[in-house]
Amino acid sequence: ASLGILVSGTGTNMYSIAKKCLSGELPAVVSVVISSRENAPALEKARSLGIPSYVVRKKDFQSQTEYEDKMIAILKAHNVDLVVLAGFLNILSPYFIDAFRWKIINVHPSLIPAFCGPGYYGMKVHEAVIQYGVKITGVTVHFVDESVDGGPIILQRPVEVDDDDTPETLAEKVKQVEHEVLPEAIKLIVENELRIVGRKVLIRREDD
Ligand code: GRF
Repeated sequence: ASLGILVSGTGTNMYSIAKKCLSGELPAVVSVVISSRENAPALEKARSLGIPSYVVRKKDFQSQTEYEDKMIAILKAHNVDLVVLAGFLNILSPYFIDAFRWKIINVHPSLIPAFCGPGYYGMKVHEAVIQYGVKITGVTVHFVDESVDGGPIILQRPVEVDDDDTPETLAEKVKQVEHEVLPEAIKLIVENELRIVGRKVLIRREDD
């Protein structure tokens, strides 16, 4: 399967996926990386792995549709089967989602529906988790639909919050788990192990 990964920041999730593809652990290839920012460290990581990478900035286009058309064209040109949002900070409109219906997934650094939705991105999620005093946070991988962070959930995994955790130490613990859970979700999709029934994602079990 051909993966297209959209990034905005450090790209550690993209890097983890690419390494698992290269090792054969993940039966897929990262065909293209698109960054919404020109100086994202993710771009350097992609280039170090020889992955075609592009910068597509929203402000360079007259409208959201033209911006999304540019990304759609690049993804189609690379025959992408699955779009992975990994730290991608822009909101995608129904126009883009329609172009890849049920073919877009996102990793969010909390247990949705907690600490998600508008305003909950990046470090803000971990700051809110620490502030609230929850004992368990975690990672969610979900399909992207028109809602923000509300698409059907594919996988979740818990991460314990320690009393001495800071947003930074917590973000690092959560990312370590993301680097395992996101590739696992991709593998389930690529190997066609998922069924979407209503808003639930059912995973075919070994003994099914
Ligand atoms: C991850 O924590 C992800 O959950 C959030 O943004 C971060 C991206 O990190 N959406 P990276 O760019 O993959 O290192």
